[in-house]
Amino acid sequence: MALVTTKNMFKKAYDGKYSIGAFNINNMEIIQGVVNGAKAKNSAVILQCSAGALKYAGPKYLKAMVDAAIEETGIDLALHLDHGPDFETVKLCVETGFTSVMFDGSHLDYEENISKTKEVVKYAHEYGVVVEAELGILAGVEDDVSASKHTYTDPDQAADFVDKTGVDSLAIAIGTSHGAYKFPPNFKPKLRFDILEEVQNKLPNFPIVLHGASSVDQNAVATCNKYGGDLSGAKGIPVEMLRKASSMAVCKINVDTDLRLAMTAAVRKTFGDSPKIFDPRKYLGAGRDAVQKVVEDKIENVLGSENSLA
Ligand code: G3H
Ligand code: 13P
Ligand code: ZN
Repeated sequence: MALVTTKNMFKKAYDGKYSIGAFNINNMEIIQGVVNGAKAKNSAVILQCSAGALKYAGPKYLKAMVDAAIEETGIDLALHLDHGPDFETVKLCVETGFTSVMFDGSHLDYEENISKTKEVVKYAHEYGVVVEAELGILAGVEDDVSASKHTYTDPDQAADFVDKTGVDSLAIAIGTSHGAYKFPPNFKPKLRFDILEEVQNKLPNFPIVLHGASSVDQNAVATCNKYGGDLSGAKGIPVEMLRKASSMAVCKINVDTDLRLAMTAAVRKTFGDSPKIFDPRKYLGAGRDAVQKVVEDKIENVLGSENSLA
């Protein structure tokens, strides 16, 4: 078993009308929670690190822990750079042994996004590393405006972009949004399936990626709030919309917020219920178990990727 690229994962997912979960990792407990969940459901999975994760844990620690996860579980894993901000970060990850990188040029103007993405593709492909790029702007982390002001991806531009850059997968904006506060209180969550369908028609068999795809489980939010947190107003993407996207051209669904919420809820509850606890294994262990539960639930009810390793 080994670190693999996403190529074969995406081909199977596209043909099988399901998605692969890409879960953000920052420490050992999150890695273990994710891979234990994947193993329990016999599912392919992508572990991804943001620039913030690289800074927090260090690329070598993250790579070594992922190698250990492969040895311990005996499953193939892909290791991906999430929202690579520049060529240097891409290079660092390729040199560290990542099998997939994202270059996020979605904030650049179109021609600049093309030229910088092309440069990354040329470099990464020389090392057998696959590349994800992004077109369109998601509300939230990527653009400090309300959820009603997405810049949706233009399907014609998406086809032109893929043709000109040679990327292996493309993240598009159809109404998802990063973080725990995806929509204003009275805003009804909505994904633009018409855009996804048009992209799919213009780019047949090409894997599409959805960022900002956490569902923000209201039980986790309530537990955080009950045990001293304040996450009122947190709201995510309805599960059935993600399931529908997974059955279309979407082959990769990114989840970070739902892991953070589950881990935080479990740690807060442990402290709240057992004030005498001060052994990190007790509260981090509870966090790890909570991450595993989320991953299993995603695989079964959102991604549809159960038994994709078989
Ligand atoms: O899309 C962003 C991910 O949730 C990573 O967040 O930059 O805080 O690690 P981060
Ligand atoms: P969420 O904030 O919805 O979990 O999205 C994570 C993401 O897109 C990471 O790239
Ligand atoms: Zn993202």
